[in-house]
Amino acid sequence: MEPRSPSPACLLLLLLGASGFFQSYAVEVEVKDASNTTCLYAKWMMKFLIRYETNSSDYKNITLDLPSNVTHDGSVCGNDTQAALVALQFGEGHSWSNNFTKNNETYQGDFVTFTYNTNDTALFPDAKRKGPITVVVKDNMLPVHLNNVYVCHNADSFETENVVQIFWNVTLQAFVQNGTISKKESRCRADTPTSAPTVLPTIANVTTASTSTLSPAPTATPKPVENPDTGNYSLKSGNKTCLLATVGLQLNVSKDKPVLININPKTTSADGTCGNTTATLRLNDGNSTLIAFTFVVKNTSVSVPKFYLKEVNVTLLNHLNGSVISNADNNNFSKWDTFLGSSYMCRKEQTLEINENLQIHTFNLWIQPFLVKENKFSTAEECFADSDLNFLIPITVGMALGFLIILVFISYIIGRRKSRTGYQSV
Ligand SMILES: *[C@@H]1O[C@H](CO)[C@@H](O)[C@H](O)[C@H]1NC(C)=O
Ligand SMILES: *[C@@H]1O[C@H](CO)[C@@H](O)[C@H](O)[C@H]1NC(C)=O
Ligand SMILES: *[C@@H]1O[C@H](CO)[C@@H](O)[C@H](O)[C@H]1NC(C)=O
Ligand SMILES: *[C@@H]1O[C@H](CO)[C@@H](O)[C@H](O)[C@H]1NC(C)=O
Ligand SMILES: *[C@@H]1O[C@H](CO)[C@@H](O)[C@H](O)[C@H]1NC(C)=O
Ligand SMILES: *[C@@H]1O[C@H](CO)[C@@H](O)[C@H](O)[C@H]1NC(C)=O
Ligand SMILES: *[C@@H]1O[C@H](CO)[C@@H](O)[C@H](O)[C@H]1NC(C)=O
Ligand SMILES: *[C@@H]1O[C@H](CO)[C@@H](O)[C@H](O)[C@H]1NC(C)=O
Ligand SMILES: *[C@@H]1O[C@H](CO)[C@@H](O)[C@H](O)[C@H]1NC(C)=O
Ligand SMILES: *[C@@H]1O[C@H](CO)[C@@H](O)[C@H](O)[C@H]1NC(C)=O
Ligand SMILES: *[C@@H]1O[C@H](CO)[C@@H](O)[C@H](O)[C@H]1NC(C)=O
Ligand SMILES: *[C@@H]1O[C@H](CO)[C@@H](O)[C@H](O)[C@H]1NC(C)=O
Repeated sequence: MEPRSPSPACLLLLLLGASGFFQSYAVEVEVKDASNTTCLYAKWMMKFLIRYETNSSDYKNITLDLPSNVTHDGSVCGNDTQAALVALQFGEGHSWSNNFTKNNETYQGDFVTFTYNTNDTALFPDAKRKGPITVVVKDNMLPVHLNNVYVCHNADSFETENVVQIFWNVTLQAFVQNGTISKKESRCRADTPTSAPTVLPTIANVTTASTSTLSPAPTATPKPVENPDTGNYSLKSGNKTCLLATVGLQLNVSKDKPVLININPKTTSADGTCGNTTATLRLNDGNSTLIAFTFVVKNTSVSVPKFYLKEVNVTLLNHLNGSVISNADNNNFSKWDTFLGSSYMCRKEQTLEINENLQIHTFNLWIQPFLVKENKFSTAEECFADSDLNFLIPITVGMALGFLIILVFISYIIGRRKSRTGYQSV
């Protein structure tokens, strides 16, 4: 490739296409050289989970999403001797950059540098230390063939002491040849079909594994999605427990592709209302997800009335200002049907379809929204999926089929006899 000198004639496009659930903006950067030819192109989404020390010497976790307003000063094309660079500046003194080197046949990410400024009082209102903090991580991108575009839809992340950087939906080509973005893709390991889907880490669970700021990047081995931990929740009326729930919850959010989010019981709190005919259990996962389950007693003339799950409402809030990002509601359920005075149990996974983009998976469910006595579950009615009667289905079906075959056989014999007599009589 003929080396070209980079110029400040760079161009940055911002895509305001917010992805509803994660409230991040896609960034699109196109760097052009002196002859106005594209030499570097990148479009991706990212967010940062940051842990910081407060005035009162405890730690807080915050999420820093990219705002819609980002500048790209200092981005350069690069050549055989100089690294290419994507540099971003955003918000109150935050910046991010990634440099790329090239050799004869490939290009490769070198280092990712992230600087966040705890002087940003909107994000770090009570930071003990004010000022910029820089984190440098070695990029773990595999070498990509020159004239190939690097694509990674799955989330990848870099973890350092107090910062997790999460990237997804990445399209990138450094050292673009002839100003044309390649049609040939190099996919990241996580995108290859054999690997399991990855889960976006939740802010409530920021891992702080390494102690050095310049830590080697984690290898991108995608973890299989684990079942959520089971939580125990209860509501009180006065000093009496009036609702009991044991459940592991997992959200299945399908925006572009399904993303599974486990609700962490350790950070989840319960509130709600008990009543004689209606009860609501509201769970707040401490991470901007609110889930409300409403149970009602069936209006029937049957001597022992029943209750059931009628409504589930899921609200996702903006972590920073508490505004509602999205709300999904289904008030037309008729699930978990149980005699009043009993509890409902279903250990196997069950799915509650809130809408086409959102499902809740429940695990190890045990719930009693009415008539809780002495803080204990009453006798449980188990769901069909759990019951030992399940194995009877194949047997029953088999027996029915057997009878059918015998019946068909008998009809056939009778039929033949009849037709034979018919022919004989002619
Ligand atoms: C690479 O770019 C740098 C900075 O623009 C420039 O000084 C240098 O001469 C270039 N190298 C080559 C081989 O073109
Ligand atoms: C990924 O990018 C595609 C198109 O570029 C977009 O439609 C989709 O919403 C993005 N996915 C996420 C999770 O942001
Ligand atoms: C570069 O190209 C764009 C359109 O492709 C044009 O608007 C712009 O004026 C050009 N800039 C230079 C310096 O030639
Ligand atoms: C974008 O950011 C710059 C500097 O940070 C600021 O001057 C400008 O007003 C911002 N624009 C918008 C639309 O927020
Ligand atoms: C990439 O950036 C890092 C951090 O700023 C720096 O240490 C490294 O030398 C750069 N690599 C190249 C090839 O310039
Ligand atoms: C690049 O090519 C030159 C000449 O073909 C060769 O000597 C050199 O070893 C190559 N470098 C790499 C890193 O492959
Ligand atoms: C932080 O902000 C305060 C006032 O806004 C300023 O006096 C101080 O110099 C800033 N510190 C740094 C490190 O930017
Ligand atoms: C770039 O253009 C040159 C001359 O037009 C051509 O020889 C070369 O194959 C092109 N490279 C690519 C990667 O398209
Ligand atoms: C974070 O997740 C890991 C594994 O998923 C778990 O072992 C750990 O207990 C969690 N931490 C918190 C604070 O919930
Ligand atoms: C922040 O994350 C850590 C795990 O890294 C966790 O122990 C801590 O409880 C979290 N703090 C808050 C306020 O969520
Ligand atoms: C709970 O309520 C009962 C009856 O109203 C009362 O006797 C008891 O003192 C209460 N216990 C507590 C801990 O408030
Ligand atoms: C609820 O039931 C209790 C006991 O059966 C009864 O005392 C109370 O009045 C009922 N409350 C309402 C609002 O019906």
